[in-house]
Order: sequence, then structure tokens, then C-alpha cells
Amino acid sequence: MNSPSVRILNHASEAVPLLLAEVRTLAARPGRPLLGFATGGTFTAFFRALADELAHGRIDAGRLCATHLDEYLGFGPERFGGMVHELCEGCPPLRDWLLRGAFVPLPHDGAPASIAAHAARLRELGGVQLQFLGIGRNGHLAFNEPGTPFGSGFHVTDLAETTRNDARARFSPQEPPTRAVTSGLATIVAAKRLVLCAFGGKKATAVRAMLRGPIDPACPASLLRQHPDAHVLLDRAAAADLASA
Ligand code: PGA
Repeated sequence: MNSPSVRILNHASEAVPLLLAEVRTLAARPGRPLLGFATGGTFTAFFRALADELAHGRIDAGRLCATHLDEYLGFGPERFGGMVHELCEGCPPLRDWLLRGAFVPLPHDGAPASIAAHAARLRELGGVQLQFLGIGRNGHLAFNEPGTPFGSGFHVTDLAETTRNDARARFSPQEPPTRAVTSGLATIVAAKRLVLCAFGGKKATAVRAMLRGPIDPACPASLLRQHPDAHVLLDRAAAADLASA
């Protein structure tokens, strides 16, 4: 099968059962496989549904561990606007995962020793088996902005202006943060399986660059095309530029 596989949905909501099925398949595997969450509006409906599955025991929380892609520098789990805060608000059962160490957050201090300890912890847990991904309008994956080397590991980064603008409403009336700690591109593609979702017309240019443009750090998401088990879920608007020459 070609990787990435590309599936075009009539509506973004159709991704929710597909993502839940991914989680269920993972939870059925031996051990406690590590799931990598993505944040952002793309995954809001999924997290609502996941919360419901976990609350009703239809997905057994004890069968999984979790981590996530990126965090604003200095944003601890309780701080509004942060990624862990967003995840726990969107999917309240994750608060319990956090308390019992089953949800491993990125070190928001960005210190080299904390980052090394985080990477070591993920290795101890067997590495990320399934990584969910969004894509930025500029083709970023996590906070790997255009130009980030494909070989990058966890690191602290400056946020691109488009990324800060997209985060502006989230932080208003405050200014959006300028720096974040992020999984690197090499970290992301080390995951066994990748599932990227992109919905809405404002993602169409980035989706085209990811799937049709050169495999180049100018579009970090183009790296997906070198992964043997990558899957892309699009709605029609996000896929709109794929057919054009
Ligand atoms: P979004 O963000 O889901 O809010 O569009 C995705 C991203 O920037 O990676």
C-alpha cells in the first residue's frame, strides 16, 4: 500500500470514528502502547468523543499511555492556553492519566536536561506507536516551522508569525507566546504509525505542498511521504488543491 494513504471525507466529522478506531486498535495491543496526541481545533471533536468513550469504559484507559507533540514555553498543565491544559479541558479523563503518570507531558521549561529525561521516558515506554498530527497553514508539523531540519529531535523553537497569528484568538487579549518546546521531525517520524488530519480550505495549500511538492524542510509535513505507515484524512475543502496541476 502507498504511504501516505490519503482519504477524502465528505465532512470532517467522519474522521472522529476513524480516529477512535485507531485508538481502539492500539489499546488492543499487548502492553500499554504509547499514543501521541495532537492539539488544535482539528482534534476538538475527536477529544470530546474520546472523553465519552473513556468515561463509559468503551476504551479501557488502563490499556494505553499518552504523550503529545508540543507545548508553549512556560505553560504548565494548569495554565490556560497551554497544550496540556487544552487536552485536559477537551478530554477530562486525561487529568487522571496525568496524575497517575500515564500521560507524559512535554517539559514546559524547555531545559536540555528535562528534554533529555522526557525523550528517555518515551523510549522506556517503548516509543510512540501511533501519532496523531495536524498541519499548520505553513506546512508545520507540531511546532517544526518551515526550514526545521528533518533530523531534528525535541527542541525549543521560535514560533513563525503565521503560527502566532493563528494562535491569537486563543490568547486574546494577551499576545500569543513566541516560543515553544516541540517534538522534532525525526522524533515524529520515529512513531510506528502516523495519522494526519487536515480540514478546511485554509489548509489546502499546505496539504498540496505536503503531498505534491518537493520533500523538503520548506514544507516540514512533506516528510510524511518518507514514512512507511502514514495516513492522511482530509475533508473536501482541505483536498481542494490536490487535483490541480
Ligand atoms: P489546528 O492546528 O488544528 O488548530 O488547525 C494544527 C496545527 O497548527 O498543527
